[in-house]
Amino acid sequence: MAIIEVDNLTKDFGYGRGIYSVSFQIQKGEVFGFLGPNGAGKTTTIRHLMGFTNPQQGHAAINGMRCNEQTSEILRDVGYLPGEIALPEGLTGWEFIKMMQGLKNSHNEERLQYLLDKFQLDPSGKTKRMSLGDKRKLAVVTAFMADPDILLLDEPTSGLDPVMQQTFIDFMKEEKKRGKTILLSSHMFGEIDAICDRIAIIKEGKIISTVNTDEIRHNINKIYQITFTTREDLDAFTKETHLTISLTEQDKHMAEVVINDMEINQLVKVLTNYQVMNFKEKKFSLEDYFMHFYVKGA
Ligand SMILES: Nc1ncnc2c1ncn2[C@@H]1O[C@H](COP(=O)(O)OP(=O)(O)OP(=O)(O)O)[C@@H](O)[C@H]1O
Ligand SMILES: [Mg+2]
Repeated sequence: MAIIEVDNLTKDFGYGRGIYSVSFQIQKGEVFGFLGPNGAGKTTTIRHLMGFTNPQQGHAAINGMRCNEQTSEILRDVGYLPGEIALPEGLTGWEFIKMMQGLKNSHNEERLQYLLDKFQLDPSGKTKRMSLGDKRKLAVVTAFMADPDILLLDEPTSGLDPVMQQTFIDFMKEEKKRGKTILLSSHMFGEIDAICDRIAIIKEGKIISTVNTDEIRHNINKIYQITFTTREDLDAFTKETHLTISLTEQDKHMAEVVINDMEINQLVKVLTNYQVMNFKEKKFSLEDYFMHFYVKGA
């Protein structure tokens, strides 16, 4: 049984906004990246998993229980980091931690100290006066101090400086090793590349692609960038070749060719007929893959 199951989940806010028939499953120990442009529906989906809102169609379930029905039972096993941190004012960081320990009925002091040290947080000040980064660190510490098995993370590193972002990525790697099931919404390709096993891309409320990250990393299609000495050579090459040309820049006499490993010989043979100034392989990264989906109209 999948730990997290989202099936045909639909919430229409009107004016083409919302989520429409969103479906995915996350297995135990899997790290699932949830990507998409601003306003695509990531937070809305995660809020359904937290049981904050009821779907119009379909359902969200965790450990086989409906998120909007058995909410408190489910949330005992879930660590949640909201995209926007709203902390109660008038409390110190310590008071907030104590309050959350009471609510979660969890008093794992060793784990708490580990997290405070790891994220270098001194929670003695008032939450109201904390910097954005410290507020986020406090949210991180309180989300993970009960050591939950399931983590729902909505853009967890936004607002953290680069060193803390790396600390957080390292922390997620540790959690992954410990068998945690993680849903991570993010715009940061680095963190997705570092930890995700599988990725879904959501756009305008619909999932448009789900992929295994290893498949992209080992993509057998490669892009070669060829710069010819003259414009005439570029034109003749593009006319002659049967290979897929993904881009030409005529003023630079440059063409990009997408080929699989079997076609490399063919390319090299054809190129002997021309004056080539530069020939290089362009690394096909996860980022290239995602950007393709982010671009409007793609
Ligand atoms: N309570 C609401 N009432 C009306 N519209 C809403 C509500 N919540 C979200 N929306 C709309 O639903 C769409 C999806 O919003 P959502 O916050 O889920 O996007 P997101 O993918 O999390 O974006 P971001 O990357 O900016 O955080 C947006 O168009 C948003 O304006
Ligand atoms: Mg969001």
